[in-house]
Amino acid sequence: MHRPQTDCNRTRYTAPTMRILITGGAGFIGSHIADACLSAGHDVLVIDNLLTGQRKNVPTAAQFEEGDIRDASFVGKTIASFRPDVVSHQAAQTSVAISAREPVLDADINILGTLNLLNACVANKVGQIVFASTGGAIYGEVPDGKRAAIDWQPRPLSPYACSKFAVECYLVCFAAEHGLRSTVLRYANVYGPRQDPHGEAGVVAILSKRTLHDEPFSVFARVTEGDDGCVRDYVYVDDVVRANLGAITGSLEQSMINVCTGVGTSTRELADQIIGLTGSKSAVNTGPRRPGDVERSVLDPGSPPPLGETTSLEDGLRATLDWFRTS
Ligand SMILES: NC(=O)c1ccc[n+]([C@@H]2O[C@H](COP(=O)([O-])OP(=O)(O)OC[C@H]3O[C@@H](n4cnc5c(N)ncnc54)[C@H](O)[C@@H]3O)[C@@H](O)[C@H]2O)c1
Repeated sequence: MHRPQTDCNRTRYTAPTMRILITGGAGFIGSHIADACLSAGHDVLVIDNLLTGQRKNVPTAAQFEEGDIRDASFVGKTIASFRPDVVSHQAAQTSVAISAREPVLDADINILGTLNLLNACVANKVGQIVFASTGGAIYGEVPDGKRAAIDWQPRPLSPYACSKFAVECYLVCFAAEHGLRSTVLRYANVYGPRQDPHGEAGVVAILSKRTLHDEPFSVFARVTEGDDGCVRDYVYVDDVVRANLGAITGSLEQSMINVCTGVGTSTRELADQIIGLTGSKSAVNTGPRRPGDVERSVLDPGSPPPLGETTSLEDGLRATLDWFRTS
């Protein structure tokens, strides 16, 4: 519903207010999406079981329900009472390493939990769901000199990538069977303020924290200990938020995109940039190849790229380091 606002003699029309339910909105990316939705004037409800998220990440203007997406009754009741226009599905078991150790847990959260959400969307006639998928893991190894385009056949090499791909397939099925519209956003390696530096993923967060405290860190091998480490496509969280807002409001036309920069950076190049920006005295050690690590993942943003220009690594790192300095 468009809301006219009278301004002296003029009538201005603002964008319609939407009701947006964000799963995982106490986490790194979900909380930034919540901030942006609120700033755009929308109503936001966050649901999160605080597995890795934190209550303090949830903006005060958002409603919050603590609960687990694996609890079908909780999910059903919450969606029936909030009646969202759009569900932004960010909640997940996000660790590739945990998925390798506990594939059943990963599938329980990432597949069965998501199915609870899809069923509740259908039962309550929710128009659209935006799904946080993974470009970083779903394509498997990306050969040197190549960028994984959106039409590449997924080759998931971890249970985490399998569970994300499974949900993408369910979304096709729910669209055909129930008319539930969906947008799939395949994120590359996302970094920025609020990322957890204590986990085993999130290399920018880990290096930011360690370099700012002059603590040593290791560059784990891509193939052989002492090499430059794995190559990743690092995308700043603001660009991920732009993609989500575009999908939520309908300004993004595509139903599936890579959310990425198209630029590959090795761990050593990343470490050198961060040390250059911080002047850190951290010792840089080397480590062996970590089992399960994809050697190289760089994505193709598309032509023309639906997100336009993305934040440069230097600008994104500066903003991230500023946040870690004060948090
Ligand atoms: N960070 C990245 O580089 C990246 C890359 C590709 C895809 N993704 C995807 O983006 C999404 C957000 O990731 P993030 O980096 O912000 O991680 P995060 O861990 O900060 O956020 C995930 C949130 O989901 C919540 N959650 C987990 N299990 C839940 C459950 N059973 N019920 C309710 N809430 C639950 C957690 O408490 C947390 O707040 C995830 O779906 C992730 O798979 C992230």
